[in-house]
Amino acid sequence: MDNNNNNNNNKSNIFQNIKDKIIDLDKFVFLTGAGISKESGIPTFRGPEGLWRKYDPMTLASISGFYEDPKLVWEFYKYRQELVYNCSPNPGHVSIADFEKIKESSYVLTQNIDGLHEKAGSNNIIELHGNILKVECTVCKFKDKIKEKIEEPLPPICKICKNTLRPSVILFGEPLNQEVWEKAEQISNNCDVMFIVGTSLNVGPVNQLPLYAKRNGAILIEVNPEPTVFTEIMDYYVQGSATEVLPQLLGIV
Ligand code: APR
Repeated sequence: MDNNNNNNNNKSNIFQNIKDKIIDLDKFVFLTGAGISKESGIPTFRGPEGLWRKYDPMTLASISGFYEDPKLVWEFYKYRQELVYNCSPNPGHVSIADFEKIKESSYVLTQNIDGLHEKAGSNNIIELHGNILKVECTVCKFKDKIKEKIEEPLPPICKICKNTLRPSVILFGEPLNQEVWEKAEQISNNCDVMFIVGTSLNVGPVNQLPLYAKRNGAILIEVNPEPTVFTEIMDYYVQGSATEVLPQLLGIV
């Protein structure tokens, strides 16, 4: 039997194993990162063609960078908004949304700011790092959703108080929104199964959530073409892309 068949056989055994373990469980969490959106055309951050290989996150995606040169940071986010605006969910996002229709207490905890889980039809979503298609005022409480393109000139100005607007995302050097973090902790502490999909788990505090889940007895299932520094604590590591693995893995439950 050639290697490929071996691989396929191994994979179908793992899938069957996983199905037997999780089919009667209820509380599922999908912790997702940039890898799940890669096949929708959105670059990851740390891969060979990752965004941080080309652009310096401390200049273009940090709170200090924003206050140093808001126009430059807005140029970077405008470029990313236009990229995201034209992208669609892929079978990885859709299979999670379909799964939520069966296991209704499923949650998506996503580090992604692209809004693709919502576009795919998921409802229970926590956007841990915000949403690039939303803006907020740096001074007053004004918030808005971006329709097509962010207006020039940059940086955009709040129509209420005339101060600078910012993307509603967590920039490097900023803490997560307290309420969002507490909800994510509570969900992770109380789940039966956590799928960790398309994330290098390089960035805290989100990379602690699988440990919270494991500490409370959850089954950890990692889906990623490459192993991560956390692969050894996973109950299952399924090597492959989200678009290839998730429809098969979730379709069987
Ligand atoms: N399917 C699943 N996973 C994939 C795929 C794919 N098709 N392609 C790549 N991956 C994996 C990579 O192997 C890597 O482990 O996706 C992961 C992407 O890792 P990162 O680029 O580090 O992205 P992420 O983990 O989401 O980064 C976390 O860092 O820069 C900040 O705020 C940013 O939310 C981001 C956070």
